[in-house]
Amino acid sequence: MADFVGAVDQGTTSTRFMIFDHGGNEVARHQLEHEQILPQAGWVEHNPVEIWERTVSVVRTAMQKAKLQASDLAALGVTNQRETAVVWDRRSGRPYYNAIVWQDTRTDRIASALDRDGRGDVIRRKAGLPPATYFSGGKIQWILDNVDGVREAAERGDAIFGNTDSWLLWNMTGGVEGGNHVTDVTNASRTMLMNLETLDWDDELLGFFGIPRRMLPEIRPSSDPNTYGVARWPGTLGGEVPLTGDLGDQQAATVGQVCFNVGEAKNTYGTGNFMLLNTGTELVRSEHGLLTTVCYKFGDQAPVYALEGSIAVTGSAVQWLRDQLHVINDAAQSETLAAQVPDSGGVYFVPAFSGLFAPYWRSDARGAIVGLSRFNTSAHLARATLESICYQTRDVVEAMAQDSGVTLDVLKVDGGITVNNLCMQIQADVLGVAVSRPVVAETTALGAAYAAGLAVGFWKSTDELRDNWNESQRWQPEWSAGQREEGYGRWKKAVERTLDWVDVD
Ligand SMILES: Nc1ncnc2c1ncn2[C@@H]1O[C@H](COP(=O)(O)OP(=O)(O)OP(=O)(O)O)[C@@H](O)[C@H]1O
Ligand SMILES: [Mg+2]
Repeated sequence: MADFVGAVDQGTTSTRFMIFDHGGNEVARHQLEHEQILPQAGWVEHNPVEIWERTVSVVRTAMQKAKLQASDLAALGVTNQRETAVVWDRRSGRPYYNAIVWQDTRTDRIASALDRDGRGDVIRRKAGLPPATYFSGGKIQWILDNVDGVREAAERGDAIFGNTDSWLLWNMTGGVEGGNHVTDVTNASRTMLMNLETLDWDDELLGFFGIPRRMLPEIRPSSDPNTYGVARWPGTLGGEVPLTGDLGDQQAATVGQVCFNVGEAKNTYGTGNFMLLNTGTELVRSEHGLLTTVCYKFGDQAPVYALEGSIAVTGSAVQWLRDQLHVINDAAQSETLAAQVPDSGGVYFVPAFSGLFAPYWRSDARGAIVGLSRFNTSAHLARATLESICYQTRDVVEAMAQDSGVTLDVLKVDGGITVNNLCMQIQADVLGVAVSRPVVAETTALGAAYAAGLAVGFWKSTDELRDNWNESQRWQPEWSAGQREEGYGRWKKAVERTLDWVDVD
């Protein structure tokens, strides 16, 4: 009897494998970081081969820790950093170039050119996305235009593209020996190449980037018994396990937070922050700087859509304090240092390292620390960093309320930063809304496991999953309304200072 479901979570900074039981409880996990390759300002790359090796290794180790075999797993799911583009050779299995990561801004000219003629509006209408460096389409174009021989290989059908989900699924299902070249609707909706209504690649959009259709994976549901094939890794799993779930990480977290009803939302605090609001089978088009994206599609049921507010830099600003400025030794110290002062001493930090994403979408913005006086210390900077995470979230919450008319009674949160109590308290204060964290904060892996398990009947329905959700902690707002509005007003002024910094025309 298979009592467990496994999920690979291929993230921006690390890859983890987690095993869950029927109650959604964690049974085992293993996690390994991979190198962040930063060749020049604005460029961010990963080595896809390293990512695949890490994946094999975390699966093997977690299975050993839990003393499980392939036959103990009912199904496997995959979830991944979205938009990060890999182009590889289907004959040799070798990537033509490093993966170009979602944070990478080298395609800023490609993106801004789309908005100078009518193409940008076609992308908004068909793909639900504002043209931006963030999405995969421009990154594929960059590889086709800049890496020798790739365009010819793509036209021959040898060079193929995928976000990291496709790269892993292809390798897991046999690689050069007949690996399946597939993705799911949520990942495909992050490329600027998929039509949100037909859920198929769109020839007009492909034409905007000069991308041959043959490069692209087959688009499948996020959860389906016959979807992705079987994982066969002799020596890793020791047998075959059906691969039945695939979701982008933020959509997976939405499933892990059981946001299955219209109007339910979650906010995940990791490298960046990503808030998704379930809008049901209705495609809601944003007028306030949010994305329209596929939330999930379970088997042959209708697709469920979401409005999304994507923030590029939140946890990575904490890493920046640690790795670049050396004002903290580890991420947890951001809390103890910030707690030494009662407020940020007038300092505002807008970490627009990759331009600004939602709701601004300004690739010409760059980071700024403003309001400094001689009085300020590193503790104020640490506090301003935590506040920046919360103010960026407020920007997105405001946009969501305007687009959807939904006002939150409580914000469901998850992700690595949510262990920071001070940050979560500031979040409740900045929003004036309670903040709630579930027991299983690893909702990304959990959501991928849910998608995989639903497909094979390990879980019978989404109601069963809802019963697995339990709150572990809640933070209530303490600031006065005046304090809240004054702080937010200053934040908006700080954001203005970052705009129009880089010349992208
Ligand atoms: N105590 C803490 N206070 C503030 N930030 C923290 C704390 N602990 C971790 N972080 C931040 O959380 C982030 C890691 O969270 P998490 O593991 O959820 O990230 P992730 O986005 O899933 O990673 P990936 O992008 O690889 O998927 C890091 O950016 C780190 O700086
Ligand atoms: Mg993650």
